[in-house]
Order: sequence, then structure tokens, then C-alpha cells
Amino acid sequence: MTTSVLSDLKIRFSKAIAAAFGVEYTNYDPAVAPSKDAKFGDYQCNAALGLTKKLKQKPQDVAAQIIANLQVEDMFEAPTIAGAGFINLKLKLSYLESQLAKMQKSDRLAISKVEKPDRVIVDFSSPNIAKEMHVGHLRSTIIGDSIARILEFQGHEVLRLNHVGDWGTQFGMLITYLREVYPDALTKADAIAIGDLIELYRAARKRFDEDAEFKEISRAAVVELQAGGSEAKLAWQLLCEQSRREFQKIYDTLNIQLEERGESFYNSFLSDVVTDLRETGLLQEDQGALCVFLEGFSNKDGQPLPLIVQKTDGGYNYATTDLAALRYRIREDRATRIIYVTDIGQSGHFAQVFQVAKRANWIPETVQTTHVPFGLVMGDDGKKFKTRSGDTIALKSLLEEAVTRARADIETRNPEASDEFKQDVAEAVGLGAVKYADLSQNRTSNYIFSFDKMLALQGNTAPYMLYAYVRVQGIGRKGEINFASLDADAIKLTQEPEIVLAKHLLQFAEAIDAVSEELFPNRLCQYLFELSQKFNQFFEQCPVLQAVESERISRLSLCDITAKTLKLGLNLLGIRVLERM
Ligand code: ARG
Repeated sequence: MTTSVLSDLKIRFSKAIAAAFGVEYTNYDPAVAPSKDAKFGDYQCNAALGLTKKLKQKPQDVAAQIIANLQVEDMFEAPTIAGAGFINLKLKLSYLESQLAKMQKSDRLAISKVEKPDRVIVDFSSPNIAKEMHVGHLRSTIIGDSIARILEFQGHEVLRLNHVGDWGTQFGMLITYLREVYPDALTKADAIAIGDLIELYRAARKRFDEDAEFKEISRAAVVELQAGGSEAKLAWQLLCEQSRREFQKIYDTLNIQLEERGESFYNSFLSDVVTDLRETGLLQEDQGALCVFLEGFSNKDGQPLPLIVQKTDGGYNYATTDLAALRYRIREDRATRIIYVTDIGQSGHFAQVFQVAKRANWIPETVQTTHVPFGLVMGDDGKKFKTRSGDTIALKSLLEEAVTRARADIETRNPEASDEFKQDVAEAVGLGAVKYADLSQNRTSNYIFSFDKMLALQGNTAPYMLYAYVRVQGIGRKGEINFASLDADAIKLTQEPEIVLAKHLLQFAEAIDAVSEELFPNRLCQYLFELSQKFNQFFEQCPVLQAVESERISRLSLCDITAKTLKLGLNLLGIRVLERM
């Protein structure tokens, strides 16, 4: 069973085209899309024009033959042909009403799960041990979580992986430095606070860059660690533990589920990557390093660029780990779709890793690997997001500030409310606003972080959406309505704003399909924003509680389906709704 009108219609048109012109057209793209302009109806099929050349017939005749073989009378009025063979379709009101009734009765708005679930890995968040989690990781966390939620809702099996940076040279450097200045940190849990750890990391980095002898010892410490030396290992574990606790606070605040499987997990598989690349004949030596020369990547002299998989000193790097991880995810996790959510700066890295894995035949046809890149977070001034003093902004204080500001707002609007209520509203609004502001942007562009904008009650913001939901709950309270007991089969659409709202409600499944295919959550935000607007227009123009009984029931159902759609839609973005605010 298909879920959205659009996907259903695509199948019906494909069948009609094959029936009209022969089986060789079975996989012909039916070019079905929602109409851009309501005066042409609700959906359009533009396949005729493309078929004219092949069939040597006029587009209008092609369209007529498609229509003759098309079965849509349960959903649409009789199709019409316009211009150069465009087929226009208008939804039947009776169909809309029956679909709304189904949505009303279902706890997943009549959206069925996919028949063949994918095994999906979403690799997201992935901060680095001993370093601060920055706004880039925040974006990855918010976007990755939303993508995972949407795929889970569709019924896919999703593994949410936190590929934390917990391996590599930085640890040798840090351990060596701590041995020198603060050995307690390496043997006692909780000996240093995370803030200090970051400071110590900076100092270690400086020493590493300036002091050749220190560098040597650090390298040896990495080797010791990678070989499993117990003292280094203990120290490493303590450092990871410390950072992990700090990351977890952010995840708890944002309600994020993640399974940690850091870079270190793949340590024992790194040498196999090199061995197997050698076997495939792709491996080459370049100035002592082992690498694969890439196709389509060249340096400024036009020479092919190498992807280094083993450095001259024998160490492995970020790319080697990603190659090992990719193999593990395909072979052991049996993933069929692997999604990586990182900043756009890593696009080259992923294109290179995917290329090498493909050329080595490690990615079967049935597996799809996708990098989901996102842009930078900018300050109000349009520059890279920094505090006044120029430091990077700590995520914890950023989230706290969002909640504090939302709290100040509710204090002025509703000073009488209980402290508990105010805090609950402040958290839902503040954190929802941060998430929504991020998700509602086209992720590939940079976006400006502005508390004022994201917390505004008007516009494409979380508070606007949350209010639309609260409004419906308010109607319910005022009319003492038990939404669950409304007769869904009593829905009757007569007024234009009702029909406009109803058609939009029916497109929810399309919005979800679009995000799961293209991985742009802003598509869902835009859908919900338009839903709130259409609901508000309906509510302004059509009396609900004051209407005569039959209209009243029907309109209350429309209110309820809108609220359920907002609630589910926001939930898929990781945002919780409030009953009052
Ligand atoms: N730790 C990396 C960073 O902070 C992100 C890792 C992304 N995932 C991956 N499989 N490379 O930039």
C-alpha cells in the first residue's frame, strides 16, 4: 500500500502509460507533480510531451490515450487536457473527506509503514574527545536526529551512530603533556574538569607544534596506545569518560538518542583496509606514504590527488578509519543506506572515501552512501559565530540562554502561572526554537543564529507552530470537546478555506516522503508552516464552536487533524508540543 496521493498517482500513471503504449514503457517516468497553480487543479502529469517524439503523435493525442487507460475516478474528477498535452487532475471532495476520516481515526495519520524497510545508519553529531562540542556538532545533532526520526517513522530500521573522534595523534600529545604537568589526570577519574581539559589540550597542541622532542615522545605514546599499552589505555579511557559525560548533558537536554561507536572501534580493522586495497591494485606508494590516487581530484598543478591511507610513520588517519567503518557497516551491520551528517567542509573527504570504496568494490549496488552537508552558523553580524571576546560559543550556555529568554517571555505573558509550568513552557519553547531555526533553513546554506528571530511569535518559527497547536487545544477546552469521540465520518467540506486546509493536510505524507528521499528537513518545516497559516485562515473565516451542529462536528475534526499533524510533524523534527503556553 502506498501512502501519499503523489506516490499512488505515479503508480497509476505508470500503469496507464504501459497499458496505452506497451510494456516497454513500464518504467517510463510519468512526470507527475503537485500543480503549481491551483487553477489547474491539484496534480499534473506532464509525460505526454516527452512521449510525442518517441510515438510520433501529437501530445494531445498521447494525453488522451493515457487518460483512456487511467483509473483514478475513486480519487479525482474527470481529468482534463490543457495546452501541450498536460493532464490536470482535481481531487474529489468525497475522496478528501474519506481520507480525512481515515487520518482522524489513525494514530499515525493513516500513513502506512514502508513495505521493504531499509537498514539505515545515520552517522551524526560525532564530536571529538578532549575538545569542545561546537555549533557545527549541534547542527549535525539536530539535523541527524530529525532525519533518523523520519526514517524510523516510515518503518526503516535505523542505527544512530556517534562516530566520536576518540583516536589518533591528539591523544599521544595530550597524554604526554599530562604526564608532564598533571599526572593525576591520567590515573584518577574526575581529576580535571572538561573546561580545563580543553585548556590543557590547547597547551599540549602548542607544545606539539613548537617542540620537536615533545612531538617525538607524543608519537611514541600514540603507538603505545594503539598497540594497547595499558597505562596509556587507562589514561585514554579517563579522558574519553570525561568528555562523554559532558556530551551526554547536551544529548539529555536535547532529547537525543545515540549509540557511541567512536573511531577507536575500528582500530583493529585499519590494517585490513590497507591490505585489501593492495590486493585490488589500487594502492600506491608516494613519498613513503601509502595512498590511492583519486579520479577527478587534482592539486593546483593538475596532478591527481592522493588519498593517504597510511602515513610514512605507519599511522593511519581519518580517511582510513572511514574506509574501515564503511566496510564494517556494510558487512557487519548489513546497512543498505548510510547517511553522514557533517559540515560542508567535509564534502571532499566523503566524496574521496566513497570513490575509493566503490573502486575497491566494497559498496554493492544495493547500498546507498550519502553525505548530508550543512553550512556554517553565523552570528548576527554575519561573521562566524563567536562570543564578544572571540571565543567559540559553548553549547551548554547557548541552550541555557534560549531557555532563559523563553522564560522571560512567559514571565511577562503569564506571571501568575506556577513555576513548574513556566519552566516546562520555557524549555519546550527555547529548545524547540533552537532546533526549528536550524531545521527550517535549507541546510546547505549558512544561517544566522538569532535568538530574537527564532523566538518570535510570528513567522516560520517554533513558537508560531506551537501556538497553532495550543490554539486547537484551547478550542477543545472552551467547547469541552472530547476530540477522540468526534464522528470522523461526519466531515463535510463546503467552504473554500476548509477545502484548502483539507488538501494541505492530505499532503503530509508527501512532505515526509520528500524528506526521506532528499534529506532536507526544511521541506517538512515549510509544510508545517503552511499548515499553520492555512489553519489560521480557516479559523478566522469559518466559525467552529458557534457553527450549527453538523458543521461544528466537521470543523472540530479538521481542527483535531491539524493538531495531530502539527504534533507528529514537530515530533519528527525533535520538538515537543505543549497543551497550553
Ligand atoms: N569527528 C568529526 C568532526 O568533528 C566528524 C565525524 C563525522 N563522521 C564520520 N564518519 N567521519 O569533524
